[in-house]
Amino acid sequence: MANEGYGKVILFNEHFVVYGIPAIASAVDRSTTATVEPCMTSCGGEFIPGVYLEDQRPETPGYKESKIDQQRDSIRYMLEAMDLDPTPKPIKVTLGGELMCASGIGASAASCTAMARALSDFYSLDLDDDRINEIAYQGERGYHGTPSGIDNTAATFGGLIWFRKEPPTMDRMKMPQQVEVVMGNTGKVADTTAAVAGVRERREQNPEKYGALFDEASEMAATAREALNAGDLEKVGRLMDENHRLLQEIEVSSPELDLLVDVARANGALGAKMTGGGLGGNMVALTPGKELQEKVAKAIEAEGYAALRTRIG
Ligand code: MEV
Repeated sequence: MANEGYGKVILFNEHFVVYGIPAIASAVDRSTTATVEPCMTSCGGEFIPGVYLEDQRPETPGYKESKIDQQRDSIRYMLEAMDLDPTPKPIKVTLGGELMCASGIGASAASCTAMARALSDFYSLDLDDDRINEIAYQGERGYHGTPSGIDNTAATFGGLIWFRKEPPTMDRMKMPQQVEVVMGNTGKVADTTAAVAGVRERREQNPEKYGALFDEASEMAATAREALNAGDLEKVGRLMDENHRLLQEIEVSSPELDLLVDVARANGALGAKMTGGGLGGNMVALTPGKELQEKVAKAIEAEGYAALRTRIG
């Protein structure tokens, strides 16, 4: 049986979350699946000692190739965390599912969660979600050094979550009803480690400016939580716009992301922002109702970019 990890969209405060500021994320209705089986004969080339990998996930061109070393580290870290050594009896891991591998949609975390679940099944470890989440976090370290943990938490638990790194907090949130969003993919594969390192450097150089922006982000999360709980979508949209401005100020947006955000707003989205690590990858637009969702998605596609129609909540 295939095991799953969800893709995610960060609605508020990517990057700020690395420094202990609360953030809000939602799983999306696309997932990565993983299966583990014994490697009997001709499993292809060995990916790391004892592990053969067949990666069938759909991808933004260049994504898998650019992440291959990180993926090796990621699998090593997860095996270590699970105290598993497959070298005496090699295994074959197959990744699949509908989630497009792209930056900003939680593809790495989704694969870590799916793989942790599949390994747990294969070795009959019967791990619960908390433990799966811890292992997926270790896997995420392979992709971006010191992750906050928000992506693997969304990938493991699903739904809409309020997340804080310190003190560790994961609260489930519930909107009165699910809402349509569009995710626009710039097609640019981005390196989260570099984006996070850039923020760290600039923050050290401009403590005052960054301190004020971080305070604003912290307040924004609390206001957004109330607006989401109340289903006040106009307000959520305005706050998403504001959040994008903060992300521009810490210099993690990109011209392509800004363009797609503008296109979404011009076509009636209630709000739009980049999502995830930035410097490429994905943006998200709040588009309640199928009609508005379709209009915004088509406008993004007309610019030559891929659009994913999904829901949050
Ligand atoms: C990446 O999806 C989100 C970041 O905030 C990094 C992290 O939280 O680990 C940029």
